[in-house]
Amino acid sequence: MPQAAFNPIPPILTAQNPNWYILGAGAIGCLNAGRLSSSGCNVTLLMRKGTLQTSLPIIIDRDGTRTTQRLPVVTPDNCKPISHLLITTKAYDVHDAVASIGHLLRKNSTAVLMVNGMGIAEQLRKDWPHLHFYLSTTTEGAYSIAPQHIQHTGQGETRIGRQGQNAPPPWFHQWSRAIDSCFWDDNIESALWAKLAVNCVINPLTALHNCSNGELGQRQELTEHVATLCNEVSNITHAAGFEQIAAALPQRVASVIAGTARNRSSMLQDVEGGRRTEIDYITGFLLRVADQFGIDAPYNRALIQDIKNNAH
Ligand SMILES: NC(=O)c1ccc[n+]([C@@H]2O[C@H](COP(=O)([O-])OP(=O)(O)OC[C@H]3O[C@@H](n4cnc5c(N)ncnc54)[C@H](OP(=O)(O)O)[C@@H]3O)[C@@H](O)[C@H]2O)c1
Repeated sequence: MPQAAFNPIPPILTAQNPNWYILGAGAIGCLNAGRLSSSGCNVTLLMRKGTLQTSLPIIIDRDGTRTTQRLPVVTPDNCKPISHLLITTKAYDVHDAVASIGHLLRKNSTAVLMVNGMGIAEQLRKDWPHLHFYLSTTTEGAYSIAPQHIQHTGQGETRIGRQGQNAPPPWFHQWSRAIDSCFWDDNIESALWAKLAVNCVINPLTALHNCSNGELGQRQELTEHVATLCNEVSNITHAAGFEQIAAALPQRVASVIAGTARNRSSMLQDVEGGRRTEIDYITGFLLRVADQFGIDAPYNRALIQDIKNNAH
């Protein structure tokens, strides 16, 4: 396989180019660590307590080409104070992971949350109210072949934003250069809801029926489930104030099903691999909103139970 090695000279730290600590050096964390580093950003992997290495090679395979770069590694025990943090753990690990480095965070430290699902930022804001949280959603595709060895399967789009902030922060310029199709989104909550609503329909159904995304549009019993679920998710989305997303949901779901017909959803892959799913932050979040507005959501309630019974 052709190899490309990047070992950039460490750049000078500035507000435009601070040191980014990556909390969650899995598929998405390594993918972005590699890209940020190769474009000249300062990047350090923040590994679990007990990790002995002081640097690690990050290997990214894409379309038959391999990129390798060595990045510094620290742990919560030997890390300096953190001004800029990228969080890329699974949703259910975020709180404990941030707690493990809580002593290193400073007033006004920046944290970018690049994690699927919703409700996580609210939990974090309660415990770390002084942090500047940015939210992100990505349609990139990557999986780990081995620790810190990533297969990049699909080029996607990454959106970053912060509620109430129209203009991007100084560091965003570097990110938009480093990461292909990385956009500042001054309505990130809507982007997250739009993704959540689609995920609420496609992820649990594919996981439960052990099928590809495309089968949801082909098998009649599944198309009926999709329609029922769209209706319920749409009602809750509307009540939460995202009327346009609610109205467009059936069409959007149909378009994602057609456009990703051969994909197997991340939730299906987690169930197949015997791993915990992120459903508490997808359907679980939706149900918490439904409760808030007094909306009955029997179909979603049954689905979350079924996934938990089947998968755990
Ligand atoms: N992969 C994709 O294609 C993709 C696409 C879009 C969105 N996403 C979303 O992105 C998020 C990350 O997904 P992923 O696929 O990158 O997951 P992943 O490969 O499982 O990576 C998560 C990483 O977080 C680490 N971690 C967990 N707790 C930690 C702690 N306390 N301290 C340090 N590291 C910790 C894990 O380490 P251990 O292995 O030691 O637990 C693991 O390396 C998820 O919300 C996912 O849904 C993923």
